[in-house]
Amino acid sequence: MSDYVYDADAIDERAFGGDAGMGHVATPGEIDISHGTILYLDDVTVSFDGFRALNKLSLAIDAGELRCIIGPNGAGKTTMMDVITGKTEPDSGKVFLGQTIDLTRMNEPEIARIGIGRKFQKPTVFEQHPVWENLELAMKTDKGWFASLRARLDRAAQARIEETLALIRLEGEARRPAGELSHGQKQRLEIGMLLMQQPALLLLDEPAAGMTDDETMQLADLLNHLRGTCSMMVVEHDMEFVAALAGEAGMVTVMAEGSVLAHGTLDTVKNDPNVIESYLGR
Ligand SMILES: Nc1ncnc2c1ncn2[C@@H]1O[C@H](COP(=O)(O)OP(=O)(O)OP(=O)(O)O)[C@@H](O)[C@H]1O
Ligand SMILES: [Mg+2]
Repeated sequence: MSDYVYDADAIDERAFGGDAGMGHVATPGEIDISHGTILYLDDVTVSFDGFRALNKLSLAIDAGELRCIIGPNGAGKTTMMDVITGKTEPDSGKVFLGQTIDLTRMNEPEIARIGIGRKFQKPTVFEQHPVWENLELAMKTDKGWFASLRARLDRAAQARIEETLALIRLEGEARRPAGELSHGQKQRLEIGMLLMQQPALLLLDEPAAGMTDDETMQLADLLNHLRGTCSMMVVEHDMEFVAALAGEAGMVTVMAEGSVLAHGTLDTVKNDPNVIESYLGR
């Protein structure tokens, strides 16, 4: 939640090379998914003191897809999210949102503004504030135009908060301080806060960590419900949770040593000898 001011021209200049060209004129904030891809990484390498946390990593996420990413500790999953969100600069490789937006040329706040929401492992909510206000505050950091239209949109804004409360199943807790919520409820609230910004792509790093079984399945329900409204990338170790998200047909990417080790349905990757050896069989 920064006080960063959305500077459309600055983003346009750097991320779009001034003139988007190529027949499709992309305006900042408008993500070109005409080829069906919301995110692609191509040959991305990140080194820390010579150690390659990401090693020529390439992957693509379809618009509207819910992609699960699994892999052993140290595989580079969080580093990948750091690169996508502009926290870590890659040594080499391409990172694009849609066809035209070069994320490597943007900083962290700009990337957040353009439509990538990130959920870290630890819930970060405003503990003193009621649940309702948490959602309201999240919306206030919305793109500049929203703030200026706020007076007119008040009823719409209220409806959106109510909708989100229902979605994260916290209607009954709206007036309670967020600090009083259970861990699972806080995690859902934080996802709700991200949703208030209407992200095009949501990155979730081990969202089920520390949750009870019930909370984990409630979270799976929530993410399944969001399917189609935004694209999602979910990193998770909990295989029951992954199974609940991927179903029989969903694609699962297995990372190891900074690259993609396997990719396919959960059933396919689970039976891949390389995956069994490096991850599941341990
Ligand atoms: N800022 C950093 N400086 C040095 N090494 C780092 C840094 N960030 C990550 N690494 C290293 O890069 C490798 C990949 O780490 P990363 O956190 O991306 O793995 P991960 O797949 O998210 O693992 P986990 O499942 O444990 O969360 C690890 O060996 C880690 O120690
Ligand atoms: Mg990690």
